[in-house]
Amino acid sequence: MKNDTTFSGAMTKISPSMLSADAARLGEGLARLEACGADWAHIDVMDGVFVPNITIGQHVVRALRPLSAMPFDVHLMIVDPLKHVPDFLDAGSDLITVHVETTENVEESLAAIRGGGAKAGVSLNPGTPLDAVLPYLDMVDLILVMTVQPGFGGQAFQPHCLDKITEARRIIDERSLDVEISVDGGINRDTARRCVEAGATVLAAGSSLFGTDDMAAEIELWRAFGRRVES
Ligand code: DX5
Ligand code: ZN
Repeated sequence: MKNDTTFSGAMTKISPSMLSADAARLGEGLARLEACGADWAHIDVMDGVFVPNITIGQHVVRALRPLSAMPFDVHLMIVDPLKHVPDFLDAGSDLITVHVETTENVEESLAAIRGGGAKAGVSLNPGTPLDAVLPYLDMVDLILVMTVQPGFGGQAFQPHCLDKITEARRIIDERSLDVEISVDGGINRDTARRCVEAGATVLAAGSSLFGTDDMAAEIELWRAFGRRVES
C-alpha cells in the first residue's frame, strides 16, 4: 500500500502582531484583527535590554483586555521574565512566552505562568539551537521559533529556521505531546506556507497582515495552508 500525503490545515492558528498596528490606536488595531477572523492577538513586549527596542508593557495589556475576548498571545522579549510574569498574568494574558536566552529560571518562569492559570510558551532566537528548548517540552503549551532576530517588525525571514521547525515537529509527534509550534518574524504568504508545511501550527505576523488591504482574506488563505501528514 502506498503512502498517501494529505494536508491537514485544521490546526493552523493566526496570531497577528499588534506591533504593526498604529500605536496611537491599539484598540482599533485589536478590533480589526478580531473582525478579520484572527485566532489570537500577538502582543510583543520588549525591554530595550534583551532586544534593542522598547515597546509596551503590562499597562497596555490591561487596557486592551476589556476590548476583546480574544486570547492574548504575549511574547516577552525581556530579561528576568519571572519578575514580571505576575503583572502580565494579572493584566489578562492567556498565553505568555519567555525566551530561553533571557533567564536561568526558565523552569520557574514556566511554572509561574501555568500556576497563574495561563498557557506557557518558550521561545528561541534564530541563532539558538533547538536543543536549548527541548528540556522544557513537558512544561509548555507552545514553542515559539523566532524566524528573525527579535526586536523589530518588518525583517526578512531566515530560512535556516525551517529545519528547527521540522525537527521540533518530529520530536513533538514522536512523543505525542500537545505542544503548538509557533513562528514569528518575516511571515508572509510564502513563508507562512513553508512554515506550516514544516510543521508550524501558529503563525504570528505583523507587517504582512497589517499591511494588506484585505486582512480577512489573507488570514483565510493562510489558514488553508495544511501540514503534510502521512496516511
Ligand atoms: C519581532 C516580534 C514580532 C514582529 C513580527 O521581534 O517578535 O512579533 O512583530 O513582525 P513581522 O511580521 O513584521 O516580521
Ligand atoms: Zn513576537
